[in-house]
Order: sequence, then C-alpha cells, then structure tokens
Amino acid sequence: MDESTEAARIHGLAERAQALQQRLATDPHRPRYHFLPPSAWMNDPNGLIYWKGHYHLFYQYVPNDPPWKTKHWGHAVSQDLVHWIDLPIALAPTPGGPDQDGCFSGCAVNHDGLPTLIYTGVRGSRQLPCLASSLDDLVTWQKYPGNPVIATPPPDLDLIAFRDHTVWKEGTTWYQLIGAGIREVGGTALLYRSSNLVDWEYMHPLYVGDRNRTDPLWTGSMWECPDFFPLGDKSVLLVSVYDDSRFRERAYKGSLHYSVAFVGTCADSTFIPRTQSIIDYGGYFYAPQTLLDLTGRRLLWGWLWEGRSDEAQWAAGWAGVMSLPRVLSLSTDNVVSLEPAPELKQLRSDHRRIMDLSILPTSFMQVREVQGDCLEIMAELITGEAT
Ligand code: FRU
Repeated sequence: MDESTEAARIHGLAERAQALQQRLATDPHRPRYHFLPPSAWMNDPNGLIYWKGHYHLFYQYVPNDPPWKTKHWGHAVSQDLVHWIDLPIALAPTPGGPDQDGCFSGCAVNHDGLPTLIYTGVRGSRQLPCLASSLDDLVTWQKYPGNPVIATPPPDLDLIAFRDHTVWKEGTTWYQLIGAGIREVGGTALLYRSSNLVDWEYMHPLYVGDRNRTDPLWTGSMWECPDFFPLGDKSVLLVSVYDDSRFRERAYKGSLHYSVAFVGTCADSTFIPRTQSIIDYGGYFYAPQTLLDLTGRRLLWGWLWEGRSDEAQWAAGWAGVMSLPRVLSLSTDNVVSLEPAPELKQLRSDHRRIMDLSILPTSFMQVREVQGDCLEIMAELITGEAT
C-alpha cells in the first residue's frame, strides 16, 4: 500500500470512529450507569484487581466492527466503583503467537509486587494458559516469552474444553483452577499448583458436576470462568454453566445458561460443597468474577449479554453491558447473597415517594410524578388476591 492509500484508509477509519461516537452519544438504549466499553462488543469481566487505590476492570473485548470475532482484553479503572476511565487495550492477540486467535478470559494477581495476568491464549483449536505482566501499574502489558505456561491439558482426562483461570496464593504456593468439562460426566474445575506461576503441576479436579442431574441441580457439560475464594468461614466455588445443548431447548427458569455458586469447606485442597445456588435469576447474567478490596469486601461483576438480535446489535454499534458491582455475603443457610455496592447510592437524586397505589388488572398504571430513562425503583408490592 503506498503512502496516500494508507493515509486515505486511516482517514476513513477515523471518520467512521467519529460517526460511531456521535451515534452512541445519542443512543437512548445505551446504559448510563452500568459500565460498558467505548464501543463494540464486550463479554466477561476479567482480571479484576484492586491496585493502589483503584479498581481495575478488564473485560473480553472485540474493539473492531462486526462480526466481532477476535477477543482482546479491554481495560477500565475506577476509584469509586461508579465512574470509570477507559484505558488502552491491555491484551491483543499476537500474530504467530499462542494467542493469535484470541485472548480469552482469566484473572490478575499481585506476583510479589508485579501485576500479572493469567489468561487463555487461543490458537486454532488450542486454548492454553498464558502470562503477561506490567511494569507501569497495569497500563501496558508484556507477554511472557515462554507462553503457554501449560503445554497440554491433563492427558488422562477426556476433556471437552480447557479454559479460563483463577489463581490465588496460600503460603508460598500458587494455586490455579482451569474451567473444563469431562466428556459424558460434567463440568469441572481442574486444580494446579506452582511455586512461580510458570511451572504448573496438575493435582486433581477440585469438584466435578454431573451433567445428567436434573434441575435445579443440573450444571451442564462444561464449566467456564471458575472463581474460588473464602467467604466468611466457608469456601465458594463459582462457575458458569455451559452445555453443548444450550442453544437447543435447554431452559431453566427462562435462562439458557447461568452461573452457580457452591458453598462448602476446603481443607488439604479438597473441596466439599454443602449448598448450590444460582447467582442472579435475570436470565442474561453470565461469567461473573470477584475481587477482594482493601476493606475485605468481596465484590462481584458479571456480563449482561444481549437479548437483541445480531442485526440490532450491529446496527447499534455496541453489545454487552457489565452488571453493577455487588457485595457478596453468606446467608444463614450458607447461600451466597448479593447487595448492590453502597457506593452506587451517589447516583441517586431527586427522590420521589409514592404510596397507596392500586394496580388494577385491566388498566395501565402511570406514575406521572416520575419520568425518565435512568431510574432506580424500589417497590413494595402487596399482592392481595392478585396472581
Ligand atoms: C464465557 C467465555 C469464556 C471464554 C470467553 C471468550 O463467556 O466463553 O469461557 O474465555 O467467554 O470470550
């Protein structure tokens, strides 16, 4: 390409980007207080970490136009969980590298002061763990030249997938869980250990689901995006249920796939779950990940995927929203509960309270005092005889 053709191409791209920004600024459907990237496609939250007074949110991102294929890691930062600043793309596929076809989901850890990402590098049908680290407080990332750090999945398991990572440290040992599915058995999270994040020894599945169980305990044929953390005096294993039949008629409470929290005890790398529950019944919530902040709160974000058609998403120029941050706790019966982070209250203004309204089955009710397209509604409904 000669210089003038290249200049024309760049000019064309800049014009398109500007036109898109103008369109997005006036799109009445674009959320105003949930996080979403500057444009285009977003899915899972990745690499959540609290670093030097800032919450860092990475996410699965396809920055270019439709058909929105190759996954990058987008990046944003916030001091208050409410206002986010977009930072440059953190990870992009390296041509010829082990992630040339995508940088899939993963996590972030503090490796003795060095921020380090563990993500799935995709090359053809291979999906393997890769590392990247940052010397400038998480803005730019250098990939480890020895990637991938695990060359193959455990050979003695017949797996249908092997991807997504959560990593934590106990004493001087790092542990990692990788999402997987054992053929004809069910979803699982495979446990590894390492002294340096580079050399990993496979231990065993931390827990295995049973794909043949029936609702409400059904957990599909593969688990994506595992997360594992202490909560109160218990341990929580969080997974996102994937099933090869999910695009067929598999539905549970209106949701085709969803995320599950197992709460139990863990000693000597053996996890015994006691309760199992679904995180968020909305039907559009998936791939959550958590972060421990300085005050000891366990915060959770998840991807809210689209209910719109592909055509509608492409026409809009954006797809996917991050859930609001929520604080996790355990109920008395050891089920994970979620409450919106109290920081979100700063978005409240212009409070109205309306009481004693009757909603008749035959009439459309309009509350004239309250109008707008960004509303927080707390409603108490006394159903009486209503169904
Ligand atoms: C979950 C998921 C992950 C994968 C990522 C790819 O939504 O399928 O398993 O790493 O999305 O974007």
